[in-house]
Amino acid sequence: MDNKLSLELKHISKTFPGVKALSDVSFSATPGKVCGIVGVNGAGKSTLMNILGGIHQPDEGGEIIINGEKVVIADPKASTKLGVAFIQQEVQAFDTMNVYENILAADLNKWRKKGSFALDRAAMKKEAKVHLEALDSHIDVEAPVYTLTVGDKQIIQIARALSQGGRILLFDEPTSSLSDHEVAMLFSVIHRLKEQGYIIFYISHFLDEIFELCDNVVVLRDGQVVGKADISDINKEQLVEMMLGYQIEGSTHVRGNTLDDVIFKAEHISGEKLPRDFSFELHKGEILGVWGLLGSGRSELFNTILGIDKMVDGQLYFKQGGELREITQKEFYKHIGYLTEGRHYDGLFLNMSIGRNITSSKLDEFATKGLGILNPGKEAVEARKLMKEVDVKAIDENMKVSKLSGGNQQKVIIAKWFLKDPEILFMDEPTKGVDVGAKNEIKELIIEKAEKGTSFVVVSSELEEIMSLCDRIIVIYEGRLVGEVQKADFSKENLMKGIVSQEEKNAE
Ligand SMILES: Nc1ncnc2c1ncn2[C@@H]1O[C@H](COP(=O)(O)OP(=O)(O)OP(=O)(O)O)[C@@H](O)[C@H]1O
Ligand SMILES: [Mg+2]
Repeated sequence: MDNKLSLELKHISKTFPGVKALSDVSFSATPGKVCGIVGVNGAGKSTLMNILGGIHQPDEGGEIIINGEKVVIADPKASTKLGVAFIQQEVQAFDTMNVYENILAADLNKWRKKGSFALDRAAMKKEAKVHLEALDSHIDVEAPVYTLTVGDKQIIQIARALSQGGRILLFDEPTSSLSDHEVAMLFSVIHRLKEQGYIIFYISHFLDEIFELCDNVVVLRDGQVVGKADISDINKEQLVEMMLGYQIEGSTHVRGNTLDDVIFKAEHISGEKLPRDFSFELHKGEILGVWGLLGSGRSELFNTILGIDKMVDGQLYFKQGGELREITQKEFYKHIGYLTEGRHYDGLFLNMSIGRNITSSKLDEFATKGLGILNPGKEAVEARKLMKEVDVKAIDENMKVSKLSGGNQQKVIIAKWFLKDPEILFMDEPTKGVDVGAKNEIKELIIEKAEKGTSFVVVSSELEEIMSLCDRIIVIYEGRLVGEVQKADFSKENLMKGIVSQEEKNAE
């Protein structure tokens, strides 16, 4: 790599209607270093990356200097030309094509044989291999992409960026859908890129990752740079304090619920996506954790219980009128809420306002009965109340949800289910993309609700989170219940026990 690679940002500001997302941001990046960009939800991290990616233009007066020259990044194409590559969290891949086609997809014309439309596939494979080898990856270049894991797809995305001449690499929360193993693989790829002298920006709410991977950090708060540090000079508490502007306090709640009142029971259920017989109980006011490795069937368990995936066998029981009675899925819907894992896929109406998204969980209550005409005034009042309760940071309830930062979008979904206030709330990764401060707030909100009698079933990949939040944890492996751990016995070892013994059985 030529050694003149450099990037400097000077006085970058960005104003959206009503929001100053970035305010006089200046710093320079060092090639061969991983620079962490950290800050709470809405601090301006993605906006900064979007400016480098040519998606947004900075306000008048800001300067971007690449390799010593002042540049204008008018659109994503211009950004690619300047060597900037954006590795998105939602993996971009053409599933029906194979690996080498994906890597070289940006400019297929380049690979046509002279005087013909036919692609020179041998040359393409060779070229794709070069880029994968540079990443120390052994993915088969001929494999169809749909057969790959999310982690492999992400590596292909990186290889594609390199094939287009990418030398300034932006990673915006790349690990939130990866398994531990895939995260390790991604990190080793990033280490390789670092050794090769690339400029790398890395955004994550997982602070352990920041400390493991980054050489230095830039801390944003309310769009301003409030700190810059070498990672070796600070500890986690200091970083959190810089991000938040205050110190985090431990939970003030002492859980005193006696959990002997069974409110829900799943008995011998199995389904199209849940092959095995699964049973468990949930108590009133309980926060029950479901823990397992990525792909262990956690989401499938929820989807089967709730009939999103077909349930083939088994019964559901729900307590009504003091008695546990069998209930159909349809009947059960009246009593529950379900926060799904796919925020953009099935969690939000992205093109609608924050307010309407919140009221969507019980829209009929805002409508004239039998006529279905909504009462927007009433909706707004309720929506505002909920926005305040879960602390959604936005101008007002009329703002489009798509314009919120990722973490604030997640809070809108929580607000939506808190408005319905169901007896049981199923939550799949409730704090995905949420910052440390807000994570704590959401945890407190869940505990507060549980104290008042709401029951929760929570899937979380974050061990620390699930252990601090839950009263009891059930462990799932390959769609099967392999363990149950009570609060007093929470530890990584105890949670892993069921999984390890199953793996040993499988190996026999
Ligand atoms: N297109 C847009 N129109 C209006 N406001 C926007 C737009 N994009 C971002 N914003 C606002 O700019 C601010 C910064 O948002 P940004 O997405 O950069 O935050 P972030 O640091 O990436 O947060 P998160 O950790 O939640 O992803 C937020 O207040 C957000 O609502
Ligand atoms: Mg963001």
